[in-house]
Amino acid sequence: MGILEKISQNSRTELIRSLKFFHKILEETREGLKEDPSDKKLQVILLETLIKIIESHNYMYSVLDAPSIPDAEYDKLFLELQKLELRCPDLVTAHSPTQRVGATSLVKFPQITHRLPMLSLSNEFDMASVEAFDRRLGEKLGTDNIEYEVEPKFDGLAVSLCYENGFFIAGATRGDGETGEDVTSNLRTIKSIPLRLHANSQNNIPALLEIRGEVLMLKEDFRELNQKQRKKNEKVFVNPRNAAAGSLRQLDPKITATRRLTFFAYGIGDSRGEGIPRDTHSNVMKYIAAHGLPIAKECDLVCSSAGLLAYYKKIEDSREQLPYDIDGVVYKVNDLAQQEKLGFISRAPRFALAHKFPAQEVITELLGIDIQVGRTGALTPVAKLKPVFVGGATVTQATLHNEDEIKRKNVMIGDSVIVRRAGDVIPEVVGVVMERRPDNAYQFIMPDQCPECGAKAVRMSNEAVVKCSGGLLCPAQKKQAIIHFASRRGMYIEGLGDKLVEQLVDAGLVRTSADLYLLDEDKLISLPRMGKKSAGNLLESLRKSKNPTLAQFIYALGVPNVGVTTARELARYFNNFSSLEKADVETLQKIPDVGLIVAQSITEFFIENHNIDVVRKLFSVGIELIENLDAQKTQDNNNTSLINGSTFVLTGTLPNLSREIVTEKIENMGGKVTSSISKKTNYLVAGNAPGSKYEKARDLGVTILNEGELLELIQN
Ligand code: IVH
Repeated sequence: MGILEKISQNSRTELIRSLKFFHKILEETREGLKEDPSDKKLQVILLETLIKIIESHNYMYSVLDAPSIPDAEYDKLFLELQKLELRCPDLVTAHSPTQRVGATSLVKFPQITHRLPMLSLSNEFDMASVEAFDRRLGEKLGTDNIEYEVEPKFDGLAVSLCYENGFFIAGATRGDGETGEDVTSNLRTIKSIPLRLHANSQNNIPALLEIRGEVLMLKEDFRELNQKQRKKNEKVFVNPRNAAAGSLRQLDPKITATRRLTFFAYGIGDSRGEGIPRDTHSNVMKYIAAHGLPIAKECDLVCSSAGLLAYYKKIEDSREQLPYDIDGVVYKVNDLAQQEKLGFISRAPRFALAHKFPAQEVITELLGIDIQVGRTGALTPVAKLKPVFVGGATVTQATLHNEDEIKRKNVMIGDSVIVRRAGDVIPEVVGVVMERRPDNAYQFIMPDQCPECGAKAVRMSNEAVVKCSGGLLCPAQKKQAIIHFASRRGMYIEGLGDKLVEQLVDAGLVRTSADLYLLDEDKLISLPRMGKKSAGNLLESLRKSKNPTLAQFIYALGVPNVGVTTARELARYFNNFSSLEKADVETLQKIPDVGLIVAQSITEFFIENHNIDVVRKLFSVGIELIENLDAQKTQDNNNTSLINGSTFVLTGTLPNLSREIVTEKIENMGGKVTSSISKKTNYLVAGNAPGSKYEKARDLGVTILNEGELLELIQN
């Protein structure tokens, strides 16, 4: 169990216990005040109790990530406190949660000189340099087994928070390392930053504690913020880091308060008082967390360069699942006496190292803009780029989304653009480097004809996309519909890639997705570069794909506006395909997340003769749905299913079922599929040639199932 998990578990149990106690006091005080509303002593008790309760909920929500009451209940308590403070202004204190957004707008940030300078870290990008780092330190310390405390490297803004006698009195940005900007009022609006330190188990509050850490914006909050900005036709941010910086450096803290920022601590600066650990960095981190500040769940302890590199790999693999952006990992010698012995080189400590990931954002030249026609006929502008290495691959194309985005980002052909490629996400152009715009840069004009079939391109008045009006006569739409049908989240026809679909359609062998199942070896080997073996493999994949779940099938049909989640909801609600086909707009709108537009899309899809023909033909060529046995169970049996609420991890190749189907089944029944094993994992589903997860699950005592056992669990 990691440092934070242990602390979280303990503190949540303790908090809930003390909340019960405070609620009792709350009730009694409220009663007392009913009799005498002007009783000063009771007013003070009520105020402090409300502050305690509200801040405890803030902590559970923002730091432990485990809220215990609904928002509306929290709001009620907050309102009660606000009213009390309005009635008794003499009771208002700086640590009250109502005072998180208090100060007025500034003209300029004052400067703050840091008590101790905020240093930087040496960076490395490759394994050999990490090994050299460990060797170098080992030689200096006379050991070959150094213990390191290891952490994610947050991609945000460094800040220093100063607590005096437990109260947050000032906070500053890093600035030049010696002097930063005083952003106290803005930092006070961040709910994960306590305005008062929590007492730890020894009940001692340090006289002085300077916390060092990073302010950032969670990926989800960033997406929401940009969505809002777009709706208001205001500036969209290039990435969470820029959004966090722009929000923290607002002169008006009221604006900062509307932006959801988060804080993570990674160390301390100056400190005075009893009980502050002076032995190891991991104890410092525990101490910080025990005082109510958030630290990363991923903090860990490892030994030697092998441990460092394994940690790097683990964090790199889980990077996409982390709720915030990171740009690497940080290694720190854990023993503080060893740290001191190693000292510093110029502005960086010798005892620490940032091992950075390859950049996910780079600058390159926009050579031109092409138009791609999608499955629904949407014309998407795609940037043609001067090849550039980003996020571990060479990229020559990136999406520009639509005409409005091009205008909003003010992109011109010839510009130097910022390209982002993160994980599996399609590379995108996120912004322009305006100061590098050449004189001959020129505007892009959206075509009024489909570049593939020449049909008129139209833009609905309330939509951002321009669409080809050629329907399935347009070869591009036809191909895209088949590519979507065969995709991983659809029928998952392995080996049927974009290029092959293109060949099949161009050769006239396939006109609709149902034609795929009429292919045979002779037809396939008539294609250029298609041998008997590849043809056989494809036919086998087609055969294997014939039993999709209902949700998979619905998704694969490519009904406009029906993505994976909606397809799942539809499958869960209807349980069989024929009920879905017959459903009217009213019935469809009863389903969670289905509004009028989606409901109309679905009914319009099933009115269309062409679509009905394809569906009939699919059934006649042997598609048999696993109709939602599992959804039925979820509805009837929500609380008793062993799958509901359990966490699964998959490893190795299962003999009959694809990972997609297994995931789908588990999720349909209320379970969760994650990528790494921890104590929280309930089941490991292991196929042939399982990976290291198998050993780990065994060590942790996680139940291991094979395919048959999993199916049994599903059916029972
Ligand atoms: S320790 C002596 N730990 O990286 C320096 N820094 O170049 C102490 N950063 O701007 C820094 N995550 O804000 C440390 N887990 C982490 C970090 C981290 C991000 C930033 C830091 C600073 C830069 C150092």
